[in-house]
Amino acid sequence: MSIILGIESSCDDTSAAIIKDGFLLSNAIANQDVHKAYGGVVPELASRAHQQNIIPVVDHAIKEANISKDDIDGIAFTRGPGLLGSLIVGTSFAKGFSLAKNIPLIEVNHLQGHILVHFIKLLAEKNKKPTFPFLCLLVSGGHSQIVIVKDYFDMEIIGQTIDDAAGEAFDKCAKILGLPYPGGPLIDKLAQTGNENAFKFTKPRIKNLDYSFSGLKTAFLYFIRDNLKENPDFITENNADLAASIQKTIIEVLFDKLKKAIVQTGIKQIAVSGGVSANSQLRKDLISNAKINNWDIFMPNKEFSTDNAAMIAITGYFKYLKKDFVGQDITPLARLHL
Ligand code: KG4
Ligand code: ZN
Repeated sequence: MSIILGIESSCDDTSAAIIKDGFLLSNAIANQDVHKAYGGVVPELASRAHQQNIIPVVDHAIKEANISKDDIDGIAFTRGPGLLGSLIVGTSFAKGFSLAKNIPLIEVNHLQGHILVHFIKLLAEKNKKPTFPFLCLLVSGGHSQIVIVKDYFDMEIIGQTIDDAAGEAFDKCAKILGLPYPGGPLIDKLAQTGNENAFKFTKPRIKNLDYSFSGLKTAFLYFIRDNLKENPDFITENNADLAASIQKTIIEVLFDKLKKAIVQTGIKQIAVSGGVSANSQLRKDLISNAKINNWDIFMPNKEFSTDNAAMIAITGYFKYLKKDFVGQDITPLARLHL
């Protein structure tokens, strides 16, 4: 029997989770509302909030799992990528806990965590797991990648963004509409009452399986600016249609390359991960595409799409089984590849 405590603090969510033999016992998350007013995450404020939240969040996760601190066999933490000041808080906590309890310390790559989230076992339901190899569309605030997952720790990126990530595109377009950060979930909500064919935006033309979203964001900005000159109420009168139309374009861009990747690799098991995989239209389109094209699809519960420590704990659990541990000299890394 192995019990792993996972810690996630790479951006603006402080989270702790307990995994026992691959089963999730708890997943506590403290979101940081402090950034809303600034239109984006303020690194200095994020690290300060992590420092305040980390002990209560870990305490909550342990209590909810109905275990004691002494039952924990290993502690896993996000080493990167992310904001350095935020990562330092989780890393330092994990080091201290490992030292105090004399248990192994396990470093986790946040991106691997997003992908391995599909292997979390839930007590209440029998969720189907992908088998290797599968394709994962990893779409978050910092990354947009298509990955061939050959094994738990053998992953190959076959396409990725050359500029902004999909989540960034959602957030920046939301900001143009005057919505607070993070705008992705707000666009999702607004779009539900809008007409996705009301406005057309040109999709980027990028070779191979790579993505680009910065041109789309700029086109959206200029489109709004030009229309505001004619009608100062253009945004308020059309916000749902604008949200639905830009959301449709972003999702189409994501699916165009994903379909290409499926044809190229012949792999038909498709998983989605990362914050943008919480998007309701993306999920609907994935289901309808799967029916038409005979794909076997894997979507995490929305709670596990956005940043969470359950994904860090499950990745830590697989590393624990391999005895893949690190020493107290480990340091977090703002930049870290899959
Ligand atoms: O995976 P995540 O929580 O953090 C990173 O690792 O970046 O992803 C956060 C991103 C943000 O850009 C946020 O706006 C986007 O995911 N996001 C969404 C939705 N929920 C979160 N984008 C579109 N629709 C959503 N429902
Ligand atoms: Zn993430």
